[in-house]
Amino acid sequence: MDKVLAFAEKILKEKIDKNSIVVDATCGNGNDTLFLAKTIAKRVVAFDIQDTAINNTKKLLTINGVEEKVKLILDSHENFEKYIAEKISAVIFNLGYLPNANHSVTTLGEVTKNTIEKMLPNLEIGGRIAIVIYWGHKEGKEEKDILMPYFANINQKYVEVLEYRFINQKNNAPYLVILEKIKDI
Ligand SMILES: C[S@@+](CC[C@H](N)C(=O)[O-])C[C@H]1O[C@@H](n2cnc3c(N)ncnc32)[C@H](O)[C@@H]1O
Repeated sequence: MDKVLAFAEKILKEKIDKNSIVVDATCGNGNDTLFLAKTIAKRVVAFDIQDTAINNTKKLLTINGVEEKVKLILDSHENFEKYIAEKISAVIFNLGYLPNANHSVTTLGEVTKNTIEKMLPNLEIGGRIAIVIYWGHKEGKEEKDILMPYFANINQKYVEVLEYRFINQKNNAPYLVILEKIKDI
């Protein structure tokens, strides 16, 4: 079976074509941005609030020769509307903190929820948002407790919500939620 991240990539890739605008909401060390940049998407927009993350991502993209179609933005994903005018096809949120960096800088439930709420109207019909939830740390658990009731209550007429998780994994293993917009809200 696909691991959580592999499944997220597969499900996003299905929605990406040569005209797609795609978003990495939390670029961190750049692995998800690299994945998106290697697809046929027209443009990738990647956000992070830490200089280190933007620099690490830039390096990874350059080593792989795919930096040209990526716009790296040192700002919160909450402000995505300032940078993206078009409809979005696919988004990934890899939540939590930057590995090997300051763990006090982490994604926060209210911020993540606000961004997703604002992104849904800007998502194409059929577009998907993948959210990888890490809940082994205190803020991660708080974030999960804010996001899950929100996801569970999104009107099914407009958005389908799928949870993908291995229910016998130990130690609060990360899991995935995928939103697919099926109708304009
Ligand atoms: C788990 S890491 C992401 C891992 C990354 N996708 C990768 O492939 O390496 C989470 C990142 O989210 C960033 N972050 C936290 N709050 C944010 C926000 N409001 N907007 C954008 N990035 C944020 C952190 O700085 C951190 O780098």
